[in-house]
Amino acid sequence: MEIRRFRMFYFSPTGGVKGAAEALSQAFAARTPSLEDITLPGVCAELGGDELAAFFFPVYGGRVPGPCLARLETLRGTGTPALLAAVYGNRAVDDALLEMKNALSARGFRTVAAAEIVAPHSLNTKIGEGRPDGKDREAIAAFAAGVERKLAGGEPEEVEVPGNMPYQDFGGTPLKPTGGRGCTGCGRCAAACPAGAIPPDRPREVDKSRCISCMRCIRVCPAGARSVPLPVRAAVAAALVQKCAGRREIKFYL
Ligand SMILES: Cc1cc2nc3c(=O)[nH]c(=O)nc-3n(C[C@H](O)[C@H](O)[C@H](O)COP(=O)(O)O)c2cc1C
Repeated sequence: MEIRRFRMFYFSPTGGVKGAAEALSQAFAARTPSLEDITLPGVCAELGGDELAAFFFPVYGGRVPGPCLARLETLRGTGTPALLAAVYGNRAVDDALLEMKNALSARGFRTVAAAEIVAPHSLNTKIGEGRPDGKDREAIAAFAAGVERKLAGGEPEEVEVPGNMPYQDFGGTPLKPTGGRGCTGCGRCAAACPAGAIPPDRPREVDKSRCISCMRCIRVCPAGARSVPLPVRAAVAAALVQKCAGRREIKFYL
């Protein structure tokens, strides 16, 4: 199948998903894919049937975070073949790939390939540190070669991905960062929040019902003034060490 253009869309609050998207774009360098950041709203596009799309989303509680699904509302395919990557913190992907596939199908995309790629866990970055690493990049290169073979074979078939319906419940985490005494009210956190959970006029606060605990606000605060109470953070980080023990390898579906 002839592909006119290859567009890669990634949602990455703290950079792990972006790193995985960059590794994949390097593996597809011959096609010079564009890398488009959809962490914040604003990208609107309709893709043709002769384009290839890739979507990189993080896994939260075995699901796709709500704002990722919201970004799809301004992206539309017209039978466009798509490659999906669920990027996760070395625990599990659970139902996230199936949720991605179904959401993209409703927007006119056909999933022809999918991958599970490990990145640092944003709630405990020691987990998955340095990934994707050299071994991962070899697997990603093999995946890209498999995608190329599939495209060379004519109109690519849709692929089955793991997951169950109804999707598992994810009730969120107790980690809802707020601004402390050092907050200067600059509003950078509010502008960067992918969930719109920080009121721009009162950036010390957080709308807990909207916050997805992505930790982006803590990363972008120039004053280091945003945080969650240390005991809560330490308890979550410690629990994750057990759940994420042992190296998970990249998986792909073609
Ligand atoms: C609230 C939350 C829930 C998460 N749930 C999972 C999970 O179920 N399984 C997993 O392996 N990683 C999980 N992670 C880790 C992220 O999927 C991983 O760190 C991802 O790379 C984050 O993307 P980013 O660095 O681009 O923000 C979770 C992270 C957060 C913040």
